[in-house]
Amino acid sequence: MKLWAGRFSKDIDKRTNDFNSSIRTDSRMYRQDIRGSIAHATMLGAQGIISQEDSAAIAASLAEIENDITSGSLVIDPGVEDIHTFIEGELTKRLGEAGKRLHTGRSRNDQVALDIRLYLRDECDETAGLINDLVSSLDSKGEENKDAVMPGYTHLQRAQPITFKAHLAAYSQMLSRDIGRINDAKKRMNVSPLGSGALAGTTYPIDRAMTASLLGFDGYTSSTLDGVSDRDFCVELASALSLIMVHLSRLCEEIIMWCSWEFKFVELDDAFSTGSSIMPQKKNPDIAELVRGKSGRVFGDLMTLLTVLKGIPLAYNKDMQEDKDAIFDAFDTVKICLKTLVPMIDTMTVIKENMRLAAGKGFINATDCADYLVSKGMAFRDAYKATGEIVAMCIKKGLTLENLPIEDYISVCDKFDKGVYEAINLDNCVKRRNL
Ligand code: ARG
Repeated sequence: MKLWAGRFSKDIDKRTNDFNSSIRTDSRMYRQDIRGSIAHATMLGAQGIISQEDSAAIAASLAEIENDITSGSLVIDPGVEDIHTFIEGELTKRLGEAGKRLHTGRSRNDQVALDIRLYLRDECDETAGLINDLVSSLDSKGEENKDAVMPGYTHLQRAQPITFKAHLAAYSQMLSRDIGRINDAKKRMNVSPLGSGALAGTTYPIDRAMTASLLGFDGYTSSTLDGVSDRDFCVELASALSLIMVHLSRLCEEIIMWCSWEFKFVELDDAFSTGSSIMPQKKNPDIAELVRGKSGRVFGDLMTLLTVLKGIPLAYNKDMQEDKDAIFDAFDTVKICLKTLVPMIDTMTVIKENMRLAAGKGFINATDCADYLVSKGMAFRDAYKATGEIVAMCIKKGLTLENLPIEDYISVCDKFDKGVYEAINLDNCVKRRNL
C-alpha cells in the first residue's frame, strides 16, 4: 500500500516502483528512523496533538518493531518504497488507528533529513575511532623501530637522513587532522530538521526544541526550506573522507614501494599478503594496492553528491535520494580500508638494515657536510658549492662522504678537518635535527 494512495486511481507500474524505491539503500537506517519516530510521537503526546495513550502505544510498538527487525523475525519488504513507509506501515498493521496518527505534523522530507543526520553522526564517531586506531598503530610501529634511520626523499631521490619513526609520524599528523575535519562537519550537521515538514513547517503546535533534545542534537535548523533540502553535510563528509583516502593512498603507495625488492624496507605478514596464480615466488601487497585503488570510489562519491545537488531548486527533489548510496559507500569504503590496514601495519616487519644501507648511499649527508663548513665560518652558499665539488669527487672515485680521505676534503677547501666525519655520521645527522 502506498502512503500517497488517495489521489491515484491506478496501481503503480512495477518498473516505476523498482526505479523509485530506495529501500535497498535506506533500510540500514531503520534504527534511526524508529528513534526519530519515537521522539516525534513523544513530542506529539506531550503537546496534546495526539493522546498520551496513542503516543505511548506508538513508542512501545516502534521499540518492538526495532527488536523484531534486529532479531530477524520481521523481514524488511524490499518491494516497499522506502524504510519510512515500511516502518509506518508495520506500525499501523500492529496498532491500527493509533499508528495512523504518527505522521501528524511531519513529512518524509524532514524525516529522511533527520534519519540521515542521525545515521551519519554514528558513522562519524566510528570512523574517527578507526582513524585513531591507525594513528596508534603507526605510532607504535615507529616507537618499536625508533633507532631505524632511512633516507628521506624529495622527488623520490634520496635527500636527507630521517628516522622511520619521523616518516610515520607525518602520516599520524595527516590522520589527526582528518579526525578534526570529521568532528567539525559532525558539529555543523548536528541540528534537527524535524518540524521543517515537507518544506514550509507545520501548523500544529509542535515543540522542535523537545524533539531536538530527545535526539541529542545541539539545536534545530532555522529555515524549514533549508532543513529539508540541505545535504551540505554529506558533501563536507565526503570531502573529509576523500582526503582521508588521499592520505591512506599515499601511505599505501609507500608501503607498496617499500615491499619491492628495489627497496625491501618492510615485509608484510603472510596473513596480509597474497600470491600469484602463476609466479610461485610472488608475494603481493594487494591490500595496500586496493586501498590506493578504492580512493577512486570515494572521490567518485564526492563528485556524485556535488553533481546531484548543483542544479536542484528548493526544496526537496527526488534527486536527493541519490545522496545515501554515495555517502554510505564513502563511509563503508573508508571504514573497510582502515579496518584492514591497521592489522596489516601492526604485523608488518621493518627491515632496518636495508633502510640503513639505503641511507648510506646517495650522499644524503651532503647538507650536513656543508653545514660543517658553515660552522667553520663559511657562508652557506660557498659551503654548498664546495660540498658539491666534494660529492662530484666522490662519484668520480667511487667513494662516499664517509670514506673520502681528509686530504681530498682539504684539497677542495682548507676549512675542513677530521671533525667532518663526526658531522656527517648519519646517526649524528638525525640526532642534531631535533626541531
Ligand atoms: N526515499 C526518499 C529519500 O531518500 C525519502 C523522502 C521521500 N520524499 C518524497 N517527497 N518523495 O529521499
